[in-house]
Amino acid sequence: MLPVVMVHGGAGHIPKERAELSTIGVKEAARTGYAILQKGGSAMDAVVEAVALMENNPRFNAGRGSVLNVKGEVEMDAMVMDGRNLDSGAVSAVRRIANPVQLARLVMEKTKHLCLTAEGAFKFARSMGVPEVPEESLITDYAKMRWKKNLKPDANPVECQMGKMGTVGAVAVDKDGNIACATSTGGMINKMEGRVGDTPCVGCGGYADNNIGAVSPTGHGEAIMKVTLSRLILFHMEQGKTPEEASDLALTYMKERVDGLGGVVVVDPKGTWAARFSSLQMSWAAAQQGELHYGLYHGEHFVEPVQENI
Ligand code: GLY
Repeated sequence: MLPVVMVHGGAGHIPKERAELSTIGVKEAARTGYAILQKGGSAMDAVVEAVALMENNPRFNAGRGSVLNVKGEVEMDAMVMDGRNLDSGAVSAVRRIANPVQLARLVMEKTKHLCLTAEGAFKFARSMGVPEVPEESLITDYAKMRWKKNLKPDANPVECQMGKMGTVGAVAVDKDGNIACATSTGGMINKMEGRVGDTPCVGCGGYADNNIGAVSPTGHGEAIMKVTLSRLILFHMEQGKTPEEASDLALTYMKERVDGLGGVVVVDPKGTWAARFSSLQMSWAAAQQGELHYGLYHGEHFVEPVQENI
């Protein structure tokens, strides 16, 4: 069953014209992570590279393609966690860098802290030689159009809450049984300046523990934080639930207790995985034993050889 990598491209309501591109993007990311694992790379390498690829893909709400805050600016959150020792690194409200997930990894590896925010995170990036990119290079026409639309007083609150394209994330178990997760996002459409969501918060925007498994979530960050969604799922797995049962329990709890929608990708140390969501859709893909699994709507599960179309 090992190695395995799983990715998501966000939960929500993905418009028809973008759905196929979202599926292509998650499949590509799962293949990239799997190729790293097959060459003997670590789970951490696999999740960071898979997420960085989706950050570079303007179809997703992370890196280039991030949604805009109420001022029309890009502020991004990202985190990584290493299941070997529970080390974690995160950045929040960071601007003008292409790959927040790689910066989150540098926070984990090069500092004694777990999270750096805003200008401090940006300065740290500069000190690490991470190039500054023009803010415009992260902003797509689609993000601008949606920002303008949601400034209107009659904007749809559900759209503002969940968006039409999502946070990205990945979980993996490598051949040595080491487990990691990574998550990255531009946050919520037209969020307040300085708003930080679940993504950089350990236990909310992700969790990885070699003894239990790993989770990367997507969805309404405020709701995810209220129920500490990632750690809650792993708690249920510690009590003997499968990744699928644990995910469903926690997502149902989040919906009933705080009226929050979302989705998750989850693995356990044996490589058992689950992609579950309470939103209308979530683009996801998993690569394991030479096969690529993927889907978008509830009940959808396609399988093809992992190397197809490369
Ligand atoms: N789950 C992403 C966010 O709310 O920022």
